[in-house]
Amino acid sequence: MFITILGAGAGGGLPQWNCGCRNCTDARTGRLPPMTQSSVAVSVDGVDWVVLNASPDIRAQFASSPSMHPTSLRGSPVRAVVLTNGDIDHVAGLLTLREKTPFTVYATSETLGILDRDSVFAVLDPALVSKETIALDAAFSPLAGLQITPFAVPGKVPLYMEGAEVDTEAMGENTVGLRITDGAKVLYYIPGCATLPDWLVARLGEADMLLFDGTVWENDEMAQTGTGAKTGARMGHISMRGDAGSLARLSGLTQTRKLYIHINNTNPILQPDGPERAEALAHGWQITADGMELEL
Ligand code: MLT
Ligand code: MN
Ligand code: ZN
Repeated sequence: MFITILGAGAGGGLPQWNCGCRNCTDARTGRLPPMTQSSVAVSVDGVDWVVLNASPDIRAQFASSPSMHPTSLRGSPVRAVVLTNGDIDHVAGLLTLREKTPFTVYATSETLGILDRDSVFAVLDPALVSKETIALDAAFSPLAGLQITPFAVPGKVPLYMEGAEVDTEAMGENTVGLRITDGAKVLYYIPGCATLPDWLVARLGEADMLLFDGTVWENDEMAQTGTGAKTGARMGHISMRGDAGSLARLSGLTQTRKLYIHINNTNPILQPDGPERAEALAHGWQITADGMELEL
């Protein structure tokens, strides 16, 4: 399996348009590499690709990834887009893919319903862009030789659909993880996850590679950095640090190559010489970056 990190950042990217935090400032001055928003491309043959989540930055991501370039006058090696939720950073890029090239969008009925109810997504010509409903725990094959099984992970509805009361650890079709296999190796992609219950930790033991929610280092990171009041938990994202955090909870996954993805611009692990990054590396994690190419 070939895996390209198209965007390692969380919603907003790095730098975020309205943010003057240390990381965003460092990205503007060239001290830190910028990150585009949350997206991954996967292929079994290096020719045909499936894109996991369509970020608002997809145009630039495709432009800077030779594997995504057209190989004919009109067309694309991208055969499908699979969505893990309806967040803006995961669906807005669909609007860029509107130029009359066929592909298939795979998502749960809950997430497809969001697209169907919003008339702007009707710009994707149904004669060319088919939408396939995927069911929890049922494998589908978006590319020959590749099987993907979506499964519910703790999470919430997209920000723009939140009502007065929000269950931030809901289990259902709104937030899914993906188990991806070519029959030989197993990749898990979980860019949004609110908690790591025992069943999920046990399940991830079979992963050869894990791309996991690296949004925040600490739950109150936005307050600490003065960028806002929202906690990671309220955003539906587990923190890295703490007894219930992903560093501790996944420390037993010694056979799995673990990489953080969907990294928020406030996250101190982005600082190359900081103690937080050193701690994550000491726990066996790698930190993804835009353009990173992985093989399984
Ligand atoms: C998230 O991952 O929490 C969302 O992308 C937030 C957002 O939509 O801004
Ligand atoms: Mn996001
Ligand atoms: Zn920032």
